[in-house]
Amino acid sequence: MRLGIKAKQIAAVTAIVGLAVVGLSAVHVTRLARVVLRESQARGELLANAIFHRAREVVVAGGPDDLYTALRTDPGLRAILESSVYGESVTEAAILDTQGIVRASSDPALEGRPLPSRADLATLVEGTALDQLRTIYARDGRTLEVRQQMVLGDAPFGSIRIGVSTVLMREELNASLRPAINVAVASVLIAVIVAALLAQLFLRPINVIRGGLTRLGKGELGVTLDLNQNDEFGDLGTFFNTVSQQLSEQRDPRQAARKLVALSRLTAGLAHEVKNPLNAMMIHLELLRTKLTRVSAPRPEPAPVAAGGLGLAAARLPERAKAEDALQHVEIIENEIRRLDEVVQGFLKFTRPEDLKLQPLQVKDIFDEILPLIAPEAETNHVRVEVQAPSDTPWVNGDASMLRQAFLNLAINACHAMPNGGSLRMSCAAASGNRVEIRFEDTGVGIPAEHLPKIFDLYFTTKEHGTGIGLSMVYRIVQLHDGEVEVESTQGRGTTFRVLLPRANES
Ligand SMILES: Nc1ncnc2c1ncn2[C@@H]1O[C@H](COP(=O)(O)OP(=O)(O)OP(=O)(O)O)[C@@H](O)[C@H]1O
Ligand SMILES: [Mg+2]
Repeated sequence: MRLGIKAKQIAAVTAIVGLAVVGLSAVHVTRLARVVLRESQARGELLANAIFHRAREVVVAGGPDDLYTALRTDPGLRAILESSVYGESVTEAAILDTQGIVRASSDPALEGRPLPSRADLATLVEGTALDQLRTIYARDGRTLEVRQQMVLGDAPFGSIRIGVSTVLMREELNASLRPAINVAVASVLIAVIVAALLAQLFLRPINVIRGGLTRLGKGELGVTLDLNQNDEFGDLGTFFNTVSQQLSEQRDPRQAARKLVALSRLTAGLAHEVKNPLNAMMIHLELLRTKLTRVSAPRPEPAPVAAGGLGLAAARLPERAKAEDALQHVEIIENEIRRLDEVVQGFLKFTRPEDLKLQPLQVKDIFDEILPLIAPEAETNHVRVEVQAPSDTPWVNGDASMLRQAFLNLAINACHAMPNGGSLRMSCAAASGNRVEIRFEDTGVGIPAEHLPKIFDLYFTTKEHGTGIGLSMVYRIVQLHDGEVEVESTQGRGTTFRVLLPRANES
């Protein structure tokens, strides 16, 4: 069973208070037991003294021949003996002759018989606390004796025995203990309540930090803790806020989005600025081509009228050759301008969200379309490509050409990550939240942990000839589809990219 800090703290405080209460109670109980024993002894001795004084008076006064008959029949002595049974712990009083036979007793039935021997209370009063408690709390209860010799001059004429009941002593002790027990129970209860309140107070910062970590764990950004304490927890809160801010800055998708928005504006401006000159260049190239074609085309030669006529035709020949040569350059320039135009158009296509043409499509179809495109790269790197796209996978709502580009970027990156061969698994499956999960799992070199926060950044690349645009396009495209892209990577083992796209409405 897992015990929380709160439970442990309550248990610890309760245990400490409980131990203190038990210890103090033990001391208290032993003291009380000694007091009860002493009081019983004192009462017994008081009674014994009273009996002795009266007995001596009876003996000194003389009377009936038999001393013991005089003692037994003396009304004063009998009154004292009988009053003994009303004492608090005293239960009987008796006068014994020198032979140990009861001659007068609070219980007349005992008279004429020997009194059974009983433990001496004086010995117990001097004994250990444990013996005292054990005797007082003995289950059946016992009668102890207070003893006093009766001496006249130097001659003993009997003894007095006062019976004291441990049962009555126990009741007396319990009655005195009751308030102490109540105080002990109340102390433990108060300790539990105070411990719970203290735990609540001390644990508040821990709960606040735990809440903050949970929110961070769920991917929330900009989490700050309100721990205005001037102690270690306050320091921890400040540290947490710093780390959280750094994380937000690293992970905030809006930052990547902002960069892409900036890129969109840049490319839109670029397109405007570049397209017009490109058009003008094309027009002028066309004009140049027309002119050069005219020079290079073989024209019908006028009939040679003089010897110089042949010389003119001969002079045109190198001119025509030059024009043909220039035409080849024109063609190259034209092709390059066309390529430039395509690049600009391509950029515009990615950065302009209004170009998004969403329609229901099957991920498998996109996989099929990109397979031939990645085949050369896969072959060069000895990468085995595996596709797992069950036919019952829900359709997604997407722009086919954009998704093709995004998936192609992910697949090509995977191939690049496996220069010594490996396998790339492209799969799709239904996911929670009415989405479809598309995975690209490779067994490549993996991504170092310190690179992970940066891979979606525009222009971040570790490749010699990389542009660092591939993954930012993936991010942008997925974002335009209202989807998510996640990455998991272990260095030396491989990388998995997960793309989550909304399902197409089933109708
Ligand atoms: N599957 C992968 N395995 C290992 N590293 C990867 C993987 N995919 C991306 N990366 C890392 O992320 C970086 C950024 O990738 P991105 O596709 O944005 O740019 P690039 O591939 O370097 O260049 P390009 O713009 O030509 O695609 C890569 O340089 C590489 O370090
Ligand atoms: Mg790439």
